[in-house]
Amino acid sequence: MRYRDQNRRAWDRLAADNSQFTRVATDDECAQPLLTLDSRGWLPGSVRGLDVLCLASGGGWQSILYASAGANVTVVDLSPGMLKLDEREASRRHLSVRTLEASMDDLSQLADESFDIVHQPVSTCYVPHIANTYREVARVLRDNGLYISQHKQPTSLQISHRDHQDRYVIGVEYYHSDPLPVVTDTAYREAGASEYLHRWEQLVGELCRAGFVLEDLVEPSRADPKARPGHFRHRGRFTAPYVRLKARRRRASPSISGTRAIWTPDS
Ligand SMILES: C[S@@+](CC[C@H](N)C(=O)[O-])C[C@H]1O[C@@H](n2cnc3c(N)ncnc32)[C@H](O)[C@@H]1O
Repeated sequence: MRYRDQNRRAWDRLAADNSQFTRVATDDECAQPLLTLDSRGWLPGSVRGLDVLCLASGGGWQSILYASAGANVTVVDLSPGMLKLDEREASRRHLSVRTLEASMDDLSQLADESFDIVHQPVSTCYVPHIANTYREVARVLRDNGLYISQHKQPTSLQISHRDHQDRYVIGVEYYHSDPLPVVTDTAYREAGASEYLHRWEQLVGELCRAGFVLEDLVEPSRADPKARPGHFRHRGRFTAPYVRLKARRRRASPSISGTRAIWTPDS
């Protein structure tokens, strides 16, 4: 699996270089862990004693905050370098965090229906088929389990460069399914990583087809009216880079179900 090898190497390098994604949880954040993780109130009032999977969230932030809030935490990540940060921070804070090296689209080391919450920061861009990740998350979540995930938006990933009038150019086709090409404007890309664009019907449609009900959707803003061209917050004024989804695993079949039409990619 070439994408896994390439992304493991890329993320081990980012971890070694102390990238922005290796910012670990601070004392202040650990004092208010749920507020830090979730300012929108999507999480229950307490996660104490709940089984939480921090998926593709190595780096010592999400896992440490959930553990500080009293959850039983498992963190899965492809990069040993990122997982080392979770282990280091957990040990420093005398917290218990289980780390597991695995790819988000193959969680076979985890049992069916073993988690109450799955929390996944931006990372599905590193796998070619988002449906495989959704299927695995659906399998390991208990009925009514909560799945909070953040993703890169397709339009943002289509941007290739800025033109001479500081306009952002969509240089990648919407239906591009191979690894994304190298682009000039790398504001929302990670160096050396193999990334994939997931269309809206994949981001949201595949989620529903995997057995989730979407409860909320927000677009975290990265726009700053004062940001100058070239800055990621300038680009954030023109297109939202991320989408955050709140979804609920529903195992019981509803009383009225089924679709009359057969869906095809062109319909
Ligand atoms: C943006 S970081 C998220 C964690 C970081 N704590 C944060 O909040 O920014 C994305 C993570 O996805 C991981 N990753 C990339 N491909 C993966 C895969 N196929 N399976 C699991 N994790 C993967 C990377 O190693 C990295 O730790």
